[in-house]
This record gives sequence, structure tokens and C-alpha cells, in this order.
Amino acid sequence: MSNLNTISDETMFDLRHDRSAPDLWPMLQALYGSHPNYAAFAKSLIKALKSAWKARPAELKLLDLKRDFEPDWFQRAQMAGYVFYIDRFAGTLNGITDKIPYLQDLGINYVHLMPCLKPRPGDSDGGYSVMDYGAINPRFGTMADLKAVSGELHHHGMSLCIDLVLNHTAKEHAWAKKAAKGDAQYQDYYLMFDTDAHPNAYEQSLVEVFPNNAPGNFTHYPDIGKWVWTTFNEHQWDLNWANPQVFLEITKVMLNLANHGVDVVRLDAVAFMWKRLGTRCQSEPEVHMILQALRACSRIAAPALIHLEEAIVGPQEMLPYLGRGKHDGKEGNLAYHNSLMVQFWSALATRDARLMTHVMSTHFPENLTNATYATYIRCHDDIGWAITDEDAAALHLSGPAHRAYLSEFYHGGFPGSFAKGALFQVNAETGDKRISGSFASLAGLEKAQTETEVETALKRINLGHALIACFGGIPLIYMGDELATLNDDGYLNQPDHAHDSRWIHRPMMDWQEAEARHDQSRPGARCFTGLKHILARRRATPGLHAAHPTRVLGCPATAVFAVQRLAPTGGLLALFNFSDEWQHIPGAWLRANGVTAWHDALADQSVSLHDDRLSLAPLGAVWLQ
Ligand code: GLC
Repeated sequence: MSNLNTISDETMFDLRHDRSAPDLWPMLQALYGSHPNYAAFAKSLIKALKSAWKARPAELKLLDLKRDFEPDWFQRAQMAGYVFYIDRFAGTLNGITDKIPYLQDLGINYVHLMPCLKPRPGDSDGGYSVMDYGAINPRFGTMADLKAVSGELHHHGMSLCIDLVLNHTAKEHAWAKKAAKGDAQYQDYYLMFDTDAHPNAYEQSLVEVFPNNAPGNFTHYPDIGKWVWTTFNEHQWDLNWANPQVFLEITKVMLNLANHGVDVVRLDAVAFMWKRLGTRCQSEPEVHMILQALRACSRIAAPALIHLEEAIVGPQEMLPYLGRGKHDGKEGNLAYHNSLMVQFWSALATRDARLMTHVMSTHFPENLTNATYATYIRCHDDIGWAITDEDAAALHLSGPAHRAYLSEFYHGGFPGSFAKGALFQVNAETGDKRISGSFASLAGLEKAQTETEVETALKRINLGHALIACFGGIPLIYMGDELATLNDDGYLNQPDHAHDSRWIHRPMMDWQEAEARHDQSRPGARCFTGLKHILARRRATPGLHAAHPTRVLGCPATAVFAVQRLAPTGGLLALFNFSDEWQHIPGAWLRANGVTAWHDALADQSVSLHDDRLSLAPLGAVWLQ
């Protein structure tokens, strides 16, 4: 037993284990308790946690303590994230160091490196088909380089997020190769069937993620004599999370990454981790039990690490990823706010904020425990119109018709549409048409002919950035969006990419444009300046701390989306005008909703009323204090 001056590593481990044991063991017991190897598994897990803790570098243990003292570090208004492909942004891991000043100039202190672990050769779904979780993609560098980059980022006050794909591995992963050779132990790591009876039964209720290039959810391998569960692409084999050994292996991987200085793991495609006959096999209750247990493992052996959960699902299905009910405060620290993103695009097309207001106020609580959103407008993936028929009906819209309209609008075909995008995974059976395209192209910059149209497109981009900077959460900027990068058709000439229109918005970083970011005659520079200003104002506005409640209000002007941030020490009311017209908001309504100072924290200037009405410019935003 140590005294206070010399707390031993073992004591520290025990304290941390005691703290999180109630979050961990009941979950594992419920998931795996009846498994014949449960006792051995539990012993191996403890051993793995202990050895990860033992191997954890001293500077990270210090960071663990710091974050014990400041558990809200990721919720603060200072936070702003940037997401990029390593090769497309910086060439290699080592190249990232040179780019830190650029990121700092923009106001970024969190970076998400898109998949960096060793992918299968050839098409790897942008790196999401991993064949070795213990190695970095050799084109980018080594595990030692990852550690060095994390050190550099930490030195500059920035944190590091990387992907951990846990629903599937590449079929070239060592486990999969052994399974393919007939090793029963490893066959149990995956979901493999001798006949098509089970696959057919499951297919009755499954949906297709990539219906165009990877139809169905199973792949038959005559040479192996098995049907393998492959939700995404043929080369991505779903892991069998009902096998405790899979939990153990992935926990080790996760803690090893944490010990290389990773602050945030982005847990990819988590909704699909548990299968149940007769369901869509998405967001089953066991998924949340697994995710809570993984989180507890991090809290024990790498407490500085937090979890970002990627579940691109409808509004009601998404919230549990941030911990609801018995998982409250114990699951993801972060999850993507897919609905906010979808509603932004919907409101922009219709120039009407009522559906957005309905969805945000009906399905999302004002408070989250120990968690917040990753807010974003664009990312590396497509946009799926996750708007339910019920929500559409509440606004007297037809769900299918509204979704079809949004696809037409953002593909660019709808008369009067300002957008230019590409279709992704058109599903003839369901009528679904998802959309690819860069923020700027979807917002009208690519089609803009006149200086006024250019300005209007830039206003739409600013509106989106002002929204995600204020809603509550960490705003994530997707590489190139700060410079209003347009769609790039170049992917069509690349055999590995041509089938996947998401590459239209994944071009190489335009460093020439970045260099020219002070030349305000360029739209890219004006976009950069606008975003830089928004992030600076966010930092200067502590009321935007994500722990403060977010309340969505119905604004008397129906084109305006209104959000209150209820900070006890001075909240604010943010207004976003989605129309191309001036909107006039009654002063009485503003006063009734807490506006007293008549100061716009976004522009950092006072506002004045005329005829007791506030006039909000077309596509304008204000954060009123
Ligand atoms: C996630 C990724 C996406 C990928 C999929 C399968 O949704 O964001 O790019 O295709 O997982 O790994």
C-alpha cells in the first residue's frame, strides 16, 4: 500500500479499476457470462488492462490525471476539430508537423487523421478495411511516427483522434486468413455459415449499405465453403462480437493506440456490431453494452482517452450512443450529430427552418451527461436523407417525396437548385438516393456565375459553420471546406475509386489556395477568413461550453432556426436565417427568450432594433447575448 507521496502504479490501477468496475463487469457478465470460456476471458481481460496500464508512458499518465481533474476538456468552447486524409493533406505522418501552423492559424486544436492503420492492398474503402491493427499504413509511416506526431500535437495544445474500425476487418487480416484456412477458433471471430439458410433468413430484415457495388450482406466463398457476413464491402468481414475473444483482442488494440498518444478513438460503424435475426441488425441493445464496456476499459487503463461513436442513424436511434437510460454518462463521449447536418441541408434547400426545429426540439434533449456531439456539415462520407416519414408528416410533408426532392436538389437537377453534387448508392428498391459533394459545391459555389452568387454561396457556408460552432459540441471542419474547395471528378480516372462517388469530395489539399488565404479577392480566402472569425468568436464565448443546455425554439419567422444556449453565467440566443430574404424578428419575442444585452457575440458588435424588430440579413446568423 502506498502513502500519498508515493502512490504506486498498482494502487493507481486498483483505484481506477474500482471506479469503473461497476460499469464494466455487469456488461460483460450479461454479454458473455454464459460462454464456456467466460472465466478465462475475464482473467485475460484483467491481465490485458494491467499490462496496458503498465506500458503507459509517464507523460500520458500525467495527462490521465489532468483529465481526471478537467473531465470537461472536450466540451469547452476552445475545442475545434479538423478532419483529413494523411496522404491528401500532409503526405505522411511526419509531414503533419509542418502543417500545424496552418491549423493553428485557423483555430484548430483537435485533428482527426482518417484511417491510418495498415489497410488491405488495392481498394480498402478509404482505409476502413484494415489488415493489421498493430501497424501504420506503410505509405504514411510507422507506429513510432504516430507517437511522435501525437507528441508534437500535444506540445501545441492539440489532441489527436484516429479511427478504430471494430465492426469488421479486411479479409486479409491474419485472423481472417486463419479462418479461411479452416481454423475453427478464428472462424468464430467472424460470422461464417455452411449454407445459405441463415444468410437468407437474416436478409429478410436487413438493409443494404452499398447496394450498387456490394449488394447483399453476405458473401459466398466456394473455396472456403462458407457464407461470410459482409455488411459493407466483400473485403470487409464482420466481426463476431458475441465471441468474448473479439472483445479482448479489440480492447488490446484500442489501449495500444491510446498508449501511442491517441486522445480520441473514432469507433467506426458501431451500429452494426450485434446481429439479431428478424431485425435490421443495427443499434441492438447489446451494441450499447459492448460500447459501455469498452469505455470502462479505457477509463481503467487509459483514462485520458475518450470515445467518438460513429452511428449514422435516425434521430431517435442516435442518442443512445451518447449514453441513455442505464448507460447514461457511460457510453460515447462524442457522437456525430447526423440529424443536425441533414436538417441544415434540408432547411437550406427549402429556405424554411420548421422541419429542422421540429426534429431538433422533439428528439434531442437539452442536456447530455458527460458527453456531447461532434457537429459537422460535411465529412468524407455521403449524405443520406435520414428524415423519417413521421417527422416529415408533422410538417405535412411526404417523407419519400421530401427525401427525393433533397436528392434532386443536391444532385443539381431540381429547377433553380444552386447545388452541384453526385449521386451515391441509388437504391431502386427503396428509392433512396444518397448525395456526395463538397460543402462549397453543394452550397452553390461551383454553379455561381456572378459575384453576387459567389457571395451567396459563401454566406451559406458561413451559416453552416456558425451553426456547428454554436449548437453544442465539437465542430469538425472537413479538410478543404475552410477554403471552399469544389468537387473534383478526378476520382473517375482511378480504378480503385471510380465506383465510389464519395471521392468527389476527397481531393488533394490545395496548398496553393491555402498559401493565398490572405488575398481577399479569392472566394477561398474569404471562406477561410469567415471560418477563422467564427472559431475565434466561439473561443471568446464561454457560454458555448457543451455542458450548457441547448434549447431549440420555434421562431416566429419560419425561415429562422433559433437555439438558446442556457449558460447560467450568461447564455445566448442564436438565430440562423435560411432564406434569401431579410427576416424581421419581434423584439418582444427576443426579450421573452432572454436577450438583454443586444450584443451579437458572433460579429462582436451591438445590434439595434427598428420598430421593435431585429432585422436578420439573408443567410445571416447572430449569437445574441
Ligand atoms: C464508416 C466510414 C465509411 C466506411 C464505413 C465502413 O461509415 O465513415 O467511410 O465506408 O464505415 O467501414
